[in-house]
Amino acid sequence: MAKEYGHYDDAAREYVITDPCTPWPWINYLGTEDFFGLISNTAGGYSFCKDAKFRRITRYRYNGVPMDAGGRYFYIKDGDTVWNPGWKPCKTPLDFYECRHGMNYTSIEGRKDGVTAKVLFFVPLMTWAEVQKLTLTNTTDKVKKLKLFSFQEWCLWNASTDMENFQRNFSTGEVEIEGSVIYHKTEYKERRNHYAYYSVNATVQGFDSDRESFLGLYNGFDAPQAVLEGKPRNSVAHGWSPIASHYLEIELKPGESRDLVFVLGYVENAQDDKWESKGVINKRMARETLSRLDTAAKVDAEFKRLCQYWDNLLQIFSVKSADERLDRTVNIWNQYQCMITFCFSRSASFFESGIGRGMGFRDSNQDLIGFVHQIPERARERIIDIASTQFADGGCYHQYQPLTKRGNDGIGGGFNDDPMWLIFGVCGYLRETGDFSILDEPVPFDNVPGSEKSLFEHLTISFDHVINNLGPHGLPLIGRADWNDCMNLNCFSNDPDESFQTTENKTEGSKAESLMIAGLFVFSGRDYVELCRHLGRNAEADRAQKYIDEMVVSVEKYGWDGEWFLRAYDYFGRKVGSKENEEGQIFIESNGWCTMAGIGLKEGLCDKALDSVKEHLDSEHGIVLNNPAFTRYYIEYGEISSYPAGYKENAGIFCHNNPWVIIGETVRGNGKAAMEYWRKICPAYIKDQTLHKVEPYVYSQMVAGKDAFRPGEGKNSWLTGTAAWNWYTITQFILGIKPTYNGLEIDPCISPDMKEYKVTRKFRGATYEIEIKNPNGATHGIKSISVNGKEITGNLIPLFEEDSFVKITAIL
Ligand code: BGC
Ligand code: NOJ
Repeated sequence: MAKEYGHYDDAAREYVITDPCTPWPWINYLGTEDFFGLISNTAGGYSFCKDAKFRRITRYRYNGVPMDAGGRYFYIKDGDTVWNPGWKPCKTPLDFYECRHGMNYTSIEGRKDGVTAKVLFFVPLMTWAEVQKLTLTNTTDKVKKLKLFSFQEWCLWNASTDMENFQRNFSTGEVEIEGSVIYHKTEYKERRNHYAYYSVNATVQGFDSDRESFLGLYNGFDAPQAVLEGKPRNSVAHGWSPIASHYLEIELKPGESRDLVFVLGYVENAQDDKWESKGVINKRMARETLSRLDTAAKVDAEFKRLCQYWDNLLQIFSVKSADERLDRTVNIWNQYQCMITFCFSRSASFFESGIGRGMGFRDSNQDLIGFVHQIPERARERIIDIASTQFADGGCYHQYQPLTKRGNDGIGGGFNDDPMWLIFGVCGYLRETGDFSILDEPVPFDNVPGSEKSLFEHLTISFDHVINNLGPHGLPLIGRADWNDCMNLNCFSNDPDESFQTTENKTEGSKAESLMIAGLFVFSGRDYVELCRHLGRNAEADRAQKYIDEMVVSVEKYGWDGEWFLRAYDYFGRKVGSKENEEGQIFIESNGWCTMAGIGLKEGLCDKALDSVKEHLDSEHGIVLNNPAFTRYYIEYGEISSYPAGYKENAGIFCHNNPWVIIGETVRGNGKAAMEYWRKICPAYIKDQTLHKVEPYVYSQMVAGKDAFRPGEGKNSWLTGTAAWNWYTITQFILGIKPTYNGLEIDPCISPDMKEYKVTRKFRGATYEIEIKNPNGATHGIKSISVNGKEITGNLIPLFEEDSFVKITAIL
């Protein structure tokens, strides 16, 4: 059996890491709103408030050597031995190590020479601070005298300039120290009205706030001079690199345990209330927060609240089946990852540096379907934020910055799939909540006051953006790219300093059309029609339906290659994703979307397309994006051909779009194939953790494909549309519990060996307990349903009053 670095503890909803030397840092996320942290299994990582770029609280060095240096460190000096509870940075061998990543908390425990140090890290609800509760226990029969040093390194707020503008940075750093609290106030004197602090709920015997004094100029985090000598320097930072370190002398009797609460917090003051006295920051809010967290008992109560918050979130959908891996994915980790992608979009992970991308227009719309059942109010707010970055012609900023909620000029618009995702997201929201009032909300264009139109009108112009931008075959023009950011058919870049994302060296007269957008248009366009009908807007529904019918005709006529759907037409109007091509003959995107939309289902096109996907794209670890992989640069295709074969968009297993094929399989009723594909990329079924490398409890964006050097190696874990798409697929299309405007539709499509399962689903205030029985090993097609003991016709469970309990038995 392959080596394992940890295991699941489902009852505790935790992943337990038992070897600190994981093949890559295995991280977790702290915080639910505003104040966030990334934490690795050795306590590496950083914190920020609201925006990982502009309000970075602690410093982190990406791609440093050694990997994952910098974080929340506690150094314990016991005689001549210095060790850390999380093994790093000193890497002193521990007698015991365990890291438990749970729902927005992490606990790390280390033992050495009879001392146990356990640290619980979490951000209390509605609090701009991270708590680190350290429990030290002496398990020997002798008195232990320990020297304890805490450590955090401040970031000078803007994570980007913090890494480059040293002529300024080395002079600006400022701190204040008051009792056991170290305040970081760089730039507060001028335009900033925010500061950070790090405290402990005990009297300290010393401190440090200047990095060089604490570490020694030529030492690393693994050998701080002050710790090695057991002597803090009581340094006060002036410029250079401010840090925060507390020093405590601790005596523990045999068997004695002591709790210490460290708090890393952040405050924003009103502009006219910044100072306590000249040059002294107003600490009132910090003190308030600290007084809520100054005892272990208060902290434990906060931790309980966080756990209850997660109990509530995870009660809304749960499954009980014969497969514990399926259950833990659905009940715990997939939902958790969806919530993380909601909070972080694609900004901050161990692959996203927090300074690159803001919130993606398409990404955020897709993420919505992963969390809308849990926090519908925040989904509502998110929709309005996203839609406010749309342009009046229906196009959209591709990204926006969470702090300002403004579209990013740097990247601009022109990704022609973007508008349809708004329809996709909003319909997902409406089906879950029934909150049609959102459609009347006035929403501006490009955030310009006075430009507001109702959200419904935004949907109409989104739909129309596609039909106003059709190419020579009546198929959607692709623009800069469609879902595949790297399918840059108008880019034609020969200059390595140009960005593939923003460069369009040719557009005028372009014939580049996308079959992916065509499929999306049919699929989500039908959602739009259904919505219009539901609202009684029949004329609009008829108008839209006409365009959808025309698109279906165009796809069947010009988008079919004989055995599968074409991917696109390029700038010159030549086929992409055709058997006629030298490389890149077949792609997931178009075959996924066109089969999801059921285009040509009756004529057998879907069957053929899905069989071709199986034949050409399936592999041991999942479905590769395209085949054959591109082995040279194609200037007319852009970034996709820039990646080595088997990686990323060039024939990697892009876990985000495997679900499109899976849903396609459910459209033709092939539950066996659907579940097989679903399991292949699902983290709970990973066989070789060393090969997979990244966290085994969350999806990664990409697993190296069959043409790669190391097929099966995962990259870019956590922040990916994979989370929401797999959630949508497993819950709605495989387990078959679909929210609709008028109730829950029950329509499973499963493996024939799945004999029964039970889903508990809270929906519009009522609780549905749904038992699915499959005595004859079917794959789909409900034969009978009873609702509270009474047979119904059809498979739609109507809406029930709030707080009702509804018992459903469905037989396949
Ligand atoms: C990546 C894509 C990503 C894009 C974002 C590309 O380099 O391959 O996955 O969506 O950058 O800008
Ligand atoms: C990652 C991006 O976040 C997403 O928007 C895009 O669709 C995929 N990569 C594919 O390129």
